[in-house]
Amino acid sequence: MSETATLKIWRGQDKAHGHWEIHQVPFERGQSVLDGLRWIRVHKDPTLAIRFSCINANACKECMMECDGETVYACTERLEAREMTIEPLSNKKLVRDLVTEIAPPAERFAVQGLTENGDPKK
Ligand code: FES
Repeated sequence: MSETATLKIWRGQDKAHGHWEIHQVPFERGQSVLDGLRWIRVHKDPTLAIRFSCINANACKECMMECDGETVYACTERLEAREMTIEPLSNKKLVRDLVTEIAPPAERFAVQGLTENGDPKK
């Protein structure tokens, strides 16, 4: 049997009410954590929310998340044949699953009735 990586992934829309899911993904040396997450979306669960753009160019910074407690770029963090814990950034506003609001407030789209942080205006 070929090697696998085990990704323990935090899921949810609210940091206080999320849950963990464990997925086995095929492992090949040189793959990134983002490769593993994309494999899950294609083969197991298309609802897993992740964000990326440049894929391995390390230019867009869209794929930032926490891996084993460290902030990483998922597209450059190496996948390993062991259990890896993947969470959204703990210091950013959660959007869903592994996606957080990372754009500076001045660069975000304005939404009528919401503050720059996405909270309702008072
Ligand atoms: S996808 Fe662009 S830096 Fe990771």
